[in-house]
Amino acid sequence: MAEQRKSIHGQWTNRTVFILAATGSAVGLGNIWKFPYIAGENGGGTFVLVYLLCIALIGLPIMMAEIMLGRRGKQSPINTMAALAKDEQRNPGWVWLGWMGVLAGFLILSYYSVIAGWAMSYVFRTGGGLFLGVTADGVNSIFTDLVTDPERLMAWHTLFMVMTMIVVARGVKHGIERAVTYLMPLLFALLIIIVIYSVTTGHFMEGVRFLFTPGKIDGKAILIAMGHAFFTLSLGMGAIMVYGSYLSNKHSIAQASILIALADTVVALLAGLAIFPIVFANGLEPGAGPGLIFQTLPIAFGHMQGGTLVGVVFFTLLVFAAWTSAISLIEPAVAYLVENKGVNRIYASVWIGFLTWFVGLGTVFSFNIWKEKTLTIPFLFEDLTFFDVLDYLTANIMLPLGGLFIALFAAWVMKEKSTREELATYPWLYKIWNFLTSFVTPLAVIVVFLKAIGVI
Ligand code: TRP
Repeated sequence: MAEQRKSIHGQWTNRTVFILAATGSAVGLGNIWKFPYIAGENGGGTFVLVYLLCIALIGLPIMMAEIMLGRRGKQSPINTMAALAKDEQRNPGWVWLGWMGVLAGFLILSYYSVIAGWAMSYVFRTGGGLFLGVTADGVNSIFTDLVTDPERLMAWHTLFMVMTMIVVARGVKHGIERAVTYLMPLLFALLIIIVIYSVTTGHFMEGVRFLFTPGKIDGKAILIAMGHAFFTLSLGMGAIMVYGSYLSNKHSIAQASILIALADTVVALLAGLAIFPIVFANGLEPGAGPGLIFQTLPIAFGHMQGGTLVGVVFFTLLVFAAWTSAISLIEPAVAYLVENKGVNRIYASVWIGFLTWFVGLGTVFSFNIWKEKTLTIPFLFEDLTFFDVLDYLTANIMLPLGGLFIALFAAWVMKEKSTREELATYPWLYKIWNFLTSFVTPLAVIVVFLKAIGVI
């Protein structure tokens, strides 16, 4: 039956387009904004190493599993899980995995959009020459001015949500294909330009050492590194699954997954190499938190030749990268509404977009009027704001949990005959995948969870 299924939402034109779209989903604020700041907060070196290990041993196998499930189910993650459980004659309860994914995507987008708003406002700040010859203190106060102003944050957040709704309403294909084909390679080129600037600061090797010299790490940091591997590859909530559902049956899933993960990792490492030399050259704090890129990169733009132009283009591209990711965060929910409620894409996008926008206000306020309102959950976290709690719950708990069950479903619930049909283009690769998803990936996720709460 899986062979005859067809997605009602359309299909990617070819394999390259799928890879570009999935890379567009993967490469986003996670690589350029989040990776450097969490690496900074967690001491660099070992954190980066754990993150890379998680990409290879947990991320890649789960990405293959997600694409496979999506391609077989050919529907939104909720209906895909229901359909596959039925195909395999298993418990229909597996559908909850789809629901958790939709919820996680919704929660992530609510804060993702606020941060994308920061990037948008920085296009104009840089363009207005605000950073010419700026000092570290100067960039700091410019950043603080922005985030302490709820009205401005709300305006940018609103604009970004509207942009996302428009593309999703038009349908994944027309919207996404074009953006990623041209813009991602350019983003890559600009990151390299900033890395070259960072080499000229004279502190490049300090940055390299910070990122790659192993040191101490605790269970909580390991959980954050693993959570980030899920976040950065868009795994664990059905985004890649839904993109897989628009993929034709004739393409190799393994090859595509490796390319996507590789591109994503290279962008994150380049971002780290761009940012940390500037941090050390200017006596900044690597653990500065979510503002890190906004407090470092403008220094580069304010001092390099043609920096204003480079800066404007860079932040514009960052907004595009965020945009192509944001789309994949609500696509599962929109696809579900279209499939089950008989509404059109426009209606579905507007409603889900509006709800997301509303929850996003909590993140807007986390940096100003609700800054002091924090939550502590024993064994898990202390003193987190609304934004931090959402980030923690989604990236460190919901995504790894979703990924764990996706791996278990693919490896243990689906019959080997079915998974072979999808993945056995290279038999040796299939064997590795099967071993990883059956044992290594689930165990790794469980061990990291237990370590983070101090059980082991
Ligand atoms: N991967 C994107 C980034 O790094 C964010 C993202 C898009 C995402 N879709 C997702 C994260 C699905 C988790 C799940 O910016």
